[in-house]
Amino acid sequence: MSPDLFDLTGKVAVVTGAGRGIGRGIAEALAGFGAAVVLAGRTPSVLEEAAGAIRAAGGRAAVQVADVSQEASVLALRDAALAAFGQIDVLVNNAGINPIWRTIEKTSLADWQSILDVNLTGTFLCCKYLGAAMAERGSGAVVNISSVAGHVGLTRSTPYCASKGGVELLSKALAIEWAARGVRVNCLTPGYVDTDLTSGLLHHETLSKPFLDHTPMGRFGQPRDMMGAAVFLASDASSYMTGQSLVVDGGWTAH
Ligand SMILES: NC(=O)c1ccc[n+]([C@@H]2O[C@H](COP(=O)([O-])OP(=O)(O)OC[C@H]3O[C@@H](n4cnc5c(N)ncnc54)[C@H](OP(=O)(O)O)[C@@H]3O)[C@@H](O)[C@H]2O)c1
Repeated sequence: MSPDLFDLTGKVAVVTGAGRGIGRGIAEALAGFGAAVVLAGRTPSVLEEAAGAIRAAGGRAAVQVADVSQEASVLALRDAALAAFGQIDVLVNNAGINPIWRTIEKTSLADWQSILDVNLTGTFLCCKYLGAAMAERGSGAVVNISSVAGHVGLTRSTPYCASKGGVELLSKALAIEWAARGVRVNCLTPGYVDTDLTSGLLHHETLSKPFLDHTPMGRFGQPRDMMGAAVFLASDASSYMTGQSLVVDGGWTAH
């Protein structure tokens, strides 16, 4: 396979939640394969640091402070991306939260709403406004960061599972809607990856063991383990793939 299939030179990618964790890894990977990257998130300092690292490596990067759960903020992100680089070719909806680990009886409506607002509504809003800019031009790739929690149920994680299950089906529905308009929509579906989101669990002396034991590859993922799949889904290497979910989980869901 020609390496050109993965080349993103001349493409513009927007990555949400790009200041740290999986999003930062994906932003760096897309820039490494030639894309100009707009890094979005709520914390300017980490976004600037991540953009600085991309520029230091010879890449092109811009920063936009954005809260994906807020419609006006997403509209401003779209406008900022177009102002910075003139077009949008790749959208990575990575921003996500999972701040609670509670039974449903102890899950408040506010807990539920806050998780759905970021993980599912944020993905909807970014597709609606940034994805639509790609559909208008007749080409593009959307990569929605889902989770194994969008494929199987996890205990004490009802809102998170519901949000990621929603992301999976939103992606399939949109893939069908936009196939004829040249925009592919797929999910990248991580297993357990060592980031701020999961460090409390993955570094816990006892709680981490069952999760590790259930992982055939015998280790948790790192953000860099998501890079290849992200570049694949963003690039022409996956040109005949849409409405699918690429699971990258060390074999966790193979059981
Ligand atoms: N780590 C895992 O094991 C794992 C497994 C499966 C799926 N995932 C998914 O992978 C994605 C990235 O997770 P991660 O593990 O890298 O977590 P992380 O290190 O906590 O990063 C989450 C990112 O999302 C951003 N974010 C949160 N709320 C936001 C909002 N309202 N608007 C814009 N940005 C927002 C955060 O930046 P600010 O706080 O600065 O805004 C941060 O950059 C999430 O969708 C998560 O559900 C992770």
